[in-house]
Amino acid sequence: MNIGPILLQNPTVFAPLAGITNLPMRLLAKSAGCALVYSEMISANGLIHGADKTWQLLRSTADEKPLSVQLFGGETDLLCEAARQVESAGADIIDINFGCAVKKILKSGSGVALMRDLVKAEALLKAVRKVVNVPLTIKIRSGWDASGSDGIALARIAQDCGVDAIAVHPRTARQAFGGRADWSLIARIKAMLSIPVIGNGDVVTAQDAARMMAETGCDAVMVGRAAIGNPFIFRDIVSLLDGGSVQTVTLQERFDAMAGYVDASVAYLGETTACFTLRSRLGWFTKGLPQAAQFRNAIRQITSETEAHALVEDYRATLLQKYDGVSALGGSAF
Ligand SMILES: Cc1cc2nc3c(=O)[nH]c(=O)nc-3n(C[C@H](O)[C@H](O)[C@H](O)COP(=O)(O)O)c2cc1C
Repeated sequence: MNIGPILLQNPTVFAPLAGITNLPMRLLAKSAGCALVYSEMISANGLIHGADKTWQLLRSTADEKPLSVQLFGGETDLLCEAARQVESAGADIIDINFGCAVKKILKSGSGVALMRDLVKAEALLKAVRKVVNVPLTIKIRSGWDASGSDGIALARIAQDCGVDAIAVHPRTARQAFGGRADWSLIARIKAMLSIPVIGNGDVVTAQDAARMMAETGCDAVMVGRAAIGNPFIFRDIVSLLDGGSVQTVTLQERFDAMAGYVDASVAYLGETTACFTLRSRLGWFTKGLPQAAQFRNAIRQITSETEAHALVEDYRATLLQKYDGVSALGGSAF
């Protein structure tokens, strides 16, 4: 699949996840075979008003390319300026968030609020399309009611405005993350458009991804929550779609991923910030493992890279001794 001129190596995409998909997490997904990663959503307002913290979210490396930078904002001028600056900073793709349903975002007129003002949405897309040359994409929800009519209308508008691809998370604004994603809406939007459609929502296993592609005809599958601490899901999806099988994630692979995540976090965030984030995030990799609660308690206290590595290696040694590598844990424990 292509997004504009950018060819994706396979049809897997890591969803934007605020507070989660930072550079170290995206690098793990890439090394597990994910074709396209998104930044977490970045405030156009924060960028333009020069908040250092916001600019740090744009940090990237060649290893994760292509990178899609997701912006949110409700004011056309600010969004255009932010898109221009993000393009200059090296983003390969610019994505605009039409799906965030968090109160604060809604109040500012951005995210899914834009799905109930399609006139404004159209003006905004036309304006951004004019000022950037890199591919432009959007990520939407079903809209404000279960019929999906907002999503269908916005998808059409977006294609007419020159948007290069659309990611569809078929839940309504009010659903937030409750209930089930209505994949039939992905199929309806795919059937209607000529630009690529990325399906999203409730893909938990590689089998789900294959089923989503078969049922909806979508061009790629975007995985969010199931890839947190489990980058191997991308390898599994690619393998299954290529006619192969889903491999067991070995203990060594899991612990190697954790150690790599510690290294990348320290390299890109600095030791102090890295330790602060690792205290909660390393636990994501231990879901389903024996003695995980003990490990998570211990990791909450770390103050240095050395301590983080020592705890990971102790835990690795304990489990390898007890479970002889892999088989006792079987399959993916996530
Ligand atoms: C913690 C969290 C943060 C999220 N942050 C964003 C975000 O920054 N931008 C966005 O478009 N969607 C965001 N989402 C929505 C996801 O990208 C995705 O659409 C949703 O989780 C459904 O996919 P999944 O079932 O594979 O998780 C977020 C979801 C969660 C759970």
